[in-house]
Amino acid sequence: MSNIPQHVSIIMDGNGRWAKARGKERIFGHFEGAESVRACLEAAVEDGVKYLSLYAFSEENWGRPEAEVNGLMELLIKYLRQELANMMSNRIRFVVLGHRERLSEKVNGLIDEVMATTASNDGTTLVVFLSYSGKWDILQAMKKAARELSPEQFQALEPHDLDRFLVTAGIPDPDLLIRTSGELRISNYLLWQSAYTEFYFTDTLWPDFRKPQFREALAEYARRDRRYGKVK
Ligand code: FPP
Repeated sequence: MSNIPQHVSIIMDGNGRWAKARGKERIFGHFEGAESVRACLEAAVEDGVKYLSLYAFSEENWGRPEAEVNGLMELLIKYLRQELANMMSNRIRFVVLGHRERLSEKVNGLIDEVMATTASNDGTTLVVFLSYSGKWDILQAMKKAARELSPEQFQALEPHDLDRFLVTAGIPDPDLLIRTSGELRISNYLLWQSAYTEFYFTDTLWPDFRKPQFREALAEYARRDRRYGKVK
């Protein structure tokens, strides 16, 4: 396939509705959603997508019932334990970005371990956004810049200068942002980084979004004409 996006990002939505439609608890939908993560990561590796990033847990998601929050954290732990060998054999680098201080010691410990083990892998980078929100990221970037720069340097900041203070420093902005489940909004995700991102919305619920659906999104991206506000 030609014109493969370098960075594909996904707002994985619709797990709860998928489970409800089957008369099951919401967490059942999240577990099935983890299978979609596996499938899309496999497709990204096969197709040469350099960065696959996933909005797995927003700052706002802390407001969900405790049982669901705990279930999601347990699911992440299970996924990381199961996937580490696969990440190593497929040269996948694993990175978590977000407000890590809010995560438990247990979750942070495992994340650090998997990040360190996969740090020098040179294949696809899997970025999982946890306890992340776009406004939080912009604000922490501004605070960091204010700490590190002189008042003169701070006043002289250009938009692209802020990139290195964001948690995504060093990661290219997403070329393609997919949101599943028919919702048409960005929900405080990569607000700064998605300034020129192509959006792809689908009614498919996340647990049903597998390799064919991922590849359909890549095919749609290949048909887009990106002009970055200029004329061609
Ligand atoms: C949105 O569906 C989904 C989430 C808030 C969680 C996404 C997490 C996973 C798929 C777990 C696996 C992740 C990894 C990285 C292993 P929703 O619950 O908002 O669905 P609804 O809108 O139908 O209620």
